[in-house]
Amino acid sequence: MCGIVGAVANRDIVPILVDGLRRLEYRGYDSSGVAVIEASQAINRVRAVGKVAELESALRKGSAPTGGTGIAHTRWATHGRPSESNAHPHMCRQRVAVVCNGIIENHDQLRSEQISAGYEFSSETDTEVIVTEIHRHLEQGLELRPAVQRTVEALEGAFAIGVIATDQPDRLVGARRGSPLVIGLKDGEAFLASDMAALIAVTQRFIILEDGDIAEISCGNVSVYDDGRPVQRPIHISPLSADAVELGNYRHYMLKEIYEQGRAVADTLEGRLTTNRLLEAAFGPDSGPIFDATKFVQIIACGTSYYAGLVARIWFEAHGIPCDVEIASEFRYRAHVVPDDTLLVAISQSGETADTLAAVQEAKRLGYRYCAAICNVPESALVRGADLVLMTHAGPEIGVASTKAFTTQLTALLLLMIALGRRYGMSADTEAKIVAELRSLPVKIEQALRLDTEIAQIAEQFADKQHALFLGRGAHFPIALEGALKLKEISYIHAEAYPAGELKHGPLALVDANMPVVAVAPNNQLLEKLKSNIHEVRARGGKLIVFTEAAAGIDADSDLQVLPVAPVDDSISPIIYSIPLQLLAYHVAVIKGTDIDKPRNLAKSVTVE
Ligand code: G6P
Repeated sequence: MCGIVGAVANRDIVPILVDGLRRLEYRGYDSSGVAVIEASQAINRVRAVGKVAELESALRKGSAPTGGTGIAHTRWATHGRPSESNAHPHMCRQRVAVVCNGIIENHDQLRSEQISAGYEFSSETDTEVIVTEIHRHLEQGLELRPAVQRTVEALEGAFAIGVIATDQPDRLVGARRGSPLVIGLKDGEAFLASDMAALIAVTQRFIILEDGDIAEISCGNVSVYDDGRPVQRPIHISPLSADAVELGNYRHYMLKEIYEQGRAVADTLEGRLTTNRLLEAAFGPDSGPIFDATKFVQIIACGTSYYAGLVARIWFEAHGIPCDVEIASEFRYRAHVVPDDTLLVAISQSGETADTLAAVQEAKRLGYRYCAAICNVPESALVRGADLVLMTHAGPEIGVASTKAFTTQLTALLLLMIALGRRYGMSADTEAKIVAELRSLPVKIEQALRLDTEIAQIAEQFADKQHALFLGRGAHFPIALEGALKLKEISYIHAEAYPAGELKHGPLALVDANMPVVAVAPNNQLLEKLKSNIHEVRARGGKLIVFTEAAAGIDADSDLQVLPVAPVDDSISPIIYSIPLQLLAYHVAVIKGTDIDKPRNLAKSVTVE
């Protein structure tokens, strides 16, 4: 998804802007650009389609821009295809330049008005109406910040913008409504970005803008305005370090993040458990009465986070906690019967997914009283708007395909299950047993990672395949869904997951030797049912790859390969079984030579609808 970086300093800020764009690459994008006000007070802009490396080579050619005030952007196409003319920054008559994340819904109407006023357009984007509108207000004699304010008032949609203008060459103005924007602070310098990760090499001190804020930034001077009135916003010290987002010795961020899961899960549990109990304070001081009042749980999420929700429903209902799960983009657009005393649980790695945020808003409008957020980004809009928060401490996740975020979400959901389960008769013994299993997770994750080499060999069999089928049952059906999602996201092989019992209602028609069938077969009460489904596949000449425990008694033969997972208790088994599936997708993608950390057309954080 789009990324914004901006800077004002008494030095050439182009290297800072480009480094910031590189650090945002993980979000997914298709073009990028930089605009700088040079010593001559003219704006010099360079844009390129493709990776930031393309922009860097464009910057090396011709008259490379240098200057102390500038903005930069990575674009993920929404209005208009990826092209240099659609890439940001957009400019109006060499006087103003704008970068924008988000969508302007009334762009058609504004463009018509602007065309009538004599303006011409050079892109198919909605952003160009913003820069044109700012220009109109500058022409009327407004200074940059009031011109931006007036413009923002005319915009409908959700966005974050960064603006520079030759009228005030030492100034950068940022505005947010619905999309994240932060200001980085440093002595005598200041920065703007859509994500702290962009600026972590230059500062750890940040102001997080609130919705509706407009910030005016000059060298070391930052003023924030809400509705035209100056406001004070607190300074946050980011716990991120530049190293946390370095690749180290790993070939890809995805692999690094798969291997970090033992640590990430341990961090997510840290301080939240005694030897045998959950410390409910982990959910914040207001959690007790909210949990006491909860009679129903409604989970909303997108993508991988939604699959974590599907696992949670099965866990919750097994302990008597009524629960429903819905994809946020569906939830937000249908009528609901709101069950009394429902706790809304929004799961999101980024906390900025537009559909999830909008679904939370819609739920509040419908009368859902409390919202609990399970999230990985403390400064995110989701966390800031939630009544209860349980942070996953996965650390920054850079690979677009979510891995450690998923397993830490599942871990956090088990903690939530205990907190609510206590109200539904969960005994202290059961709680102690689950806590012991949670504590064992880091070790069991390390064991699961040892399958890496074997999985890399099996991955060879997928490289020439067009399709793959994943099967699971119960809480492992969502794990099959997540395994299929990982494979399709990064290897571009079409993969589908089915509850194994549904095989005979359709997918069996597809089974032949050319479609690998992956079965997730833990040694649990559904094993015998799953074995029957495995037989159904074998009887039709299918080739099976089965992740299972030795004690399950599934034997390998020429049509069935067994990947032996170490014995694991049912309570945590979905977390453990997701790891070999991540490795499988990763190795298939390595063999296929795809762009694993930045798969085509996808974005890490989907901040537009
Ligand atoms: C995008 C990402 C996925 C993620 C989904 C939801 O599609 O590529 O990895 O699962 O968004 O994101 P969230 O940040 O809300 O968990």
